[in-house]
Amino acid sequence: MSTARKVIKCKAAVLWELNKPFSIEEVEVAPPKAHEVRIKIVAVGICRSDDHAVTGTMMTPVPAILGHEAAGIVESVGEGVTTVKPGDKVIPLFIPQCGKCRICKNPESNFCLKNDLTNPQGTLQDGTSRFTCRGKPVHHFIGVSTFSQYTVVDEIAVAKIDAASPLEKVCLFGCGFSTGYGSAVKVAKVTPGSTCAVFGLGGVGLSVVMGCKAAGAARIITVDINKAKFAKAKELGATECINPQDYKKPIQEVLKEMTDGGVDFSFEVIGRLDTVAELSAHQFIHPFIHSKTIFWAFPKSTALSYAKQRGEMKGQKI
Ligand SMILES: NC(=O)c1ccc[n+]([C@@H]2O[C@H](COP(=O)([O-])OP(=O)(O)OC[C@H]3O[C@@H](n4cnc5c(N)ncnc54)[C@H](O)[C@@H]3O)[C@@H](O)[C@H]2O)c1
Ligand SMILES: [Zn+2]
Ligand SMILES: [Zn+2]
Repeated sequence: MSTARKVIKCKAAVLWELNKPFSIEEVEVAPPKAHEVRIKIVAVGICRSDDHAVTGTMMTPVPAILGHEAAGIVESVGEGVTTVKPGDKVIPLFIPQCGKCRICKNPESNFCLKNDLTNPQGTLQDGTSRFTCRGKPVHHFIGVSTFSQYTVVDEIAVAKIDAASPLEKVCLFGCGFSTGYGSAVKVAKVTPGSTCAVFGLGGVGLSVVMGCKAAGAARIITVDINKAKFAKAKELGATECINPQDYKKPIQEVLKEMTDGGVDFSFEVIGRLDTVAELSAHQFIHPFIHSKTIFWAFPKSTALSYAKQRGEMKGQKI
């Protein structure tokens, strides 16, 4: 029996309050409105940014359904949807692509102005939520909310993918892989024969390694305090793996010695402000022509820049 145009009851992980465990709940997922798409989530990844949202360093209104790295199948579409149809395999996009704003039109950027990251409302584009739980509305998270068996997203926040795609693998395109690989290939534009340093070997860092390798880097030096990550890093292209805890000197000194003065490209993919500061200083001392540092996340500094906004949100008791 078709579920189109009906409310779907399903399981979701609800975050009722910051710094509390998720609660597995039955939620109601309303049908998609015009220009929206309801998706059956088949595979979902966990990214560190979900954890930043739980702790409040990445701002989002609660209660909310988090999750932003997933793949699924379109269950039904709202009026006016033309780019996907029921049965299509899709990846939800936490940075939408309206295709019309000045950022979407700029080939150097993709941070669409319709995103829900810079000034998070926890809703779809029309300002409302499709989720309820125990009679209360529950917020969306950056327009995707994938820790739910079903979710609703705006049509501009969904990408159709090949029907043969293995969803349990391609779900990583939803965040970690695109972020890491893209930061090496598109943002830093790693050059053939260069030396790269990658700090942090989570899903994003490992994807940076793949990007550096694809770009033809000669040396990819990876840095992590968890040695268990090194085998996978080597498999994906790391040429050397080092643990800062094995050295008495600061890791930037170790890297300078290893590389005759410094690396060409460095990537901070741990998410620590102090590592970012150290890398900036390191680059400042060695102004190589091509030297470039890419920071993918600094939750604490993000929290600082959002402090005013956060105060306002607290004031509203959201
Ligand atoms: N678009 C974006 O800006 C974007 C997208 C995805 C993730 N992120 C951010 O990127 C960061 C990494 O995400 P992830 O999911 O790969 O995280 P993760 O937690 O899976 O991986 C982090 C890695 O850093 C290592 N690490 C921790 N402390 C360290 C230290 N002092 N020195 C060296 N290594 C250390 C950990 O052992 C781990 O392997 C997070 O802060 C996340 O929020 C940003
Ligand atoms: Zn992420
Ligand atoms: Zn746009």
